[in-house]
Amino acid sequence: MSDKVFICRCEDLTQEEIEQAIDEGFTTLEELKCRLRLGMGPCQGRSCLSLARRILCKKTNKSTEEIKLPPSRPPEVPVSLGTLASD
Ligand code: FES
Repeated sequence: MSDKVFICRCEDLTQEEIEQAIDEGFTTLEELKCRLRLGMGPCQGRSCLSLARRILCKKTNKSTEEIKLPPSRPPEVPVSLGTLASD
């Protein structure tokens, strides 16, 4: 059995990978999202962003209020599945 702790299961990101990115200087959730695709899977970060925020708080000695969640960017207008499936 593996000792890996998966934080973002959609993107297969482990706690170790996130901590390594923070050590490299990526110290906001937005930067971690750009670097690692954290929160960009099918659940759009519902499972992982709060866990990653806790890791970030611990590694940077910041409070949760200081670590902002990345803005959500829903589509400007609803798009039907029929539109997406058509040419
Ligand atoms: S668990 Fe990270 S995007 Fe779904």
